[in-house]
Amino acid sequence: MTSASDDGVQVRVVDHPLTRAWLSILRDQATDNTAFRSALARLSQMLVYEAFADVPVDDVDVQTPVAVAPGVKVTTPPLFVPVLRAGLGMLESALSVLPDSRIGFVGVGRDEETARPVEYLASLPADLTGQPVYVLDPMLATGGSLIHTLDLLAERGATDLTAVCVVGAPEGVAALRASTHRLRLVIGAVDEHLNEDAFIVPGLGDAGDRQFGPR
Ligand code: PRP
Repeated sequence: MTSASDDGVQVRVVDHPLTRAWLSILRDQATDNTAFRSALARLSQMLVYEAFADVPVDDVDVQTPVAVAPGVKVTTPPLFVPVLRAGLGMLESALSVLPDSRIGFVGVGRDEETARPVEYLASLPADLTGQPVYVLDPMLATGGSLIHTLDLLAERGATDLTAVCVVGAPEGVAALRASTHRLRLVIGAVDEHLNEDAFIVPGLGDAGDRQFGPR
């Protein structure tokens, strides 16, 4: 696991034998839709778990059957924002870790010609002041979709922002760093580069298509 921050973006690459093993299944072109969804769910749970490593907690006393024990609870339950479609495959895993979370939805598809994000849904609370937000999207390619989502969240007052991604390209990380946003990026791997079609190399293909079939 590595971490670096000299601008507004703190990157944490989650590098664990089990995350690498699940990512290998996702990368394999022989993995079918059902197995892909299952592997994405398993890996997402680990990434979300890691994304909450430094979450603020309140101390609470817990009465065990024997005595009072010191315990904690998360101070402010998060808002999870899956970026449709592909981010939907991470949502159940996130909720399994933090069941009392809120959920918002952003729908963004990349224009196949320009690779620019095209928004088709923004279902978010109007006021996100003081609300920790965790964006879920398996892919960070050019960064356009994530930056667009961060723009929507910032417009609503969100300042405590984390993105949880499975795989990214250096170009996408650079685009985040060049943006005005301050955030944590928790990611399974940062790959080599983008190809001429703005696909991550080696990547895992299109995470939306591999879960749900082609659009
Ligand atoms: C993919 C992916 C990200 C986006 C990443 O979505 O899930 O949202 O592309 O690319 P970017 O960093 O260059 O914006 P896609 O547009 O394929 O839509 P889908 O999830 O509905 O398949």
